Amino acid sequence: MHRVVCPGSFDPVTNGHLDIISRAAAMYDEVVVAVLINVTKQGLFTVDERVELLREVTSEYGNVKIDRFHGLLVDFCAANGITAVVKGLRAVSDFEYEMQMAQMNYRMAKIETLFMTTNPLYSFLSSSLIKEIARYGGDVSGLVPEPVVSQLRHRMTEE
Ligand code: PNS
Repeated sequence: MHRVVCPGSFDPVTNGHLDIISRAAAMYDEVVVAVLINVTKQGLFTVDERVELLREVTSEYGNVKIDRFHGLLVDFCAANGITAVVKGLRAVSDFEYEMQMAQMNYRMAKIETLFMTTNPLYSFLSSSLIKEIARYGGDVSGLVPEPVVSQLRHRMTEE
């Protein structure tokens, strides 16, 4: 049984995340998408909302589970029988930080990190850019799943 984790903030989930999650789901027995609970950083969406959106947009994959975690990712892995992290790499700019975390996670707990090259259709995408574009009324359809488009619209009209 190969269970892997796709960790992240997912504020909100993008089509780039979804691409990596679905490709990981085709390769491994189970994929746990783990949303970081970060008490020091206020997101646009609450952790509950992010989890709910992730559940909705991954419902077609029988082997994808959504969870949340705080503290160290390696501790979450140990508690859930996970031996590897799957991450998307968009560009060289991602590499340095991702490499550092991957090596540290291996050093701490022998947790492997597997990098997938992002689909070029989504290599320029980030949750931060999505929020900025949505905030100023830009169109994010095609870049995030439909439920996220409508949640963003809803959120921006509330502000
Ligand atoms: O989507 P993000 O914010 O780029 O995801 C970063 C994340 C959640 C994968 C990373 O910050 C993380 O693993 N945080 C948990 C704390 C931890 O384990 N820190 C040590 C990393 S070596």
